[in-house]
Amino acid sequence: MASRICDSVLVTGSNRGIGLELVRQLVDSPSPPVQIFAGCRDPNGPRSQALQELAQKHRDVITVVQLDTTSPTSIAEASKLVDTKLKGRGLNLIINNAGVNIPGSLAETGIQEMVDVYTTNVVGPMLIAKDFHPLLCKAAAQFPHQTNMSCNRSAIINVSTLLSSITRCPENFSVSPMYPYRVSKAALNMLTRCLAEDFKKDSILVMSLHPGWVQTEMGGPKAPLTTAESISGLIKVIASCTEKDSGTLLDWEGKNIPW
Ligand SMILES: NC(=O)c1ccc[n+]([C@@H]2O[C@H](COP(=O)([O-])OP(=O)(O)OC[C@H]3O[C@@H](n4cnc5c(N)ncnc54)[C@H](OP(=O)(O)O)[C@@H]3O)[C@@H](O)[C@H]2O)c1
Repeated sequence: MASRICDSVLVTGSNRGIGLELVRQLVDSPSPPVQIFAGCRDPNGPRSQALQELAQKHRDVITVVQLDTTSPTSIAEASKLVDTKLKGRGLNLIINNAGVNIPGSLAETGIQEMVDVYTTNVVGPMLIAKDFHPLLCKAAAQFPHQTNMSCNRSAIINVSTLLSSITRCPENFSVSPMYPYRVSKAALNMLTRCLAEDFKKDSILVMSLHPGWVQTEMGGPKAPLTTAESISGLIKVIASCTEKDSGTLLDWEGKNIPW
């Protein structure tokens, strides 16, 4: 029997796109997590219908959690709910997937575009890491005889992008200038790097992952990867990463992307 990726996982922005497919493939895996917390900001809205149907089908595994990643109140309420549902056990894995893109050239980008994208793509994952830290520590401590880090034990995955790479910028800048998005995801990578250092003492693995260019509302129809292809790769990477990967940026095939 395939080994379980982890006992418990929280996925943010899971009502559509990459987040929804993550929840779908996790619950359909041969050995699914015992508990999947599917975060979305409007659980009863029309954009959450597919997630609600999936959760209904797997009532014993999926809990839909109201979670606006830019709202400290919503994050605090969500962490309380997750804590209650876990009944004293820790949370193994957080996938910070919720994200926004306001594609903009320099001429099209102003303060508001920069701030809005930064708030969702950087401040959100930072607030989540802060509030859920005790639950991640609790999960890591449930493996007292393990010295290794893994997503099975305790981890944060920040969903980043190739477009965040400062080294690779000259290759792809002209096709997608996207100032707010690129700058925010480069900052998200720094958050990953800081958290990886900070949480090392707690045996919590922290890394960034690039899902590829994927057919979603954000990726658009010209993207070469379906959500199914991207997520099956991402799940393999998540299942295999160890402390050597903490503080790095890998793609959906496990290849390292330079900062
Ligand atoms: N698609 C690609 O090619 C690609 C490539 C590289 C990286 N990524 C990254 O992958 C992640 C998912 O992207 P996607 O392609 O699936 O995008 P998407 O189809 O636009 O979906 C974005 C998701 O994030 C949620 N979200 C946005 N702001 C939120 C907030 N404040 N609180 C909670 N949820 C929020 C959305 O919820 P609502 O329905 O409520 O808006 C939606 O569920 C993003 O971080 C993105 O940057 C995507």
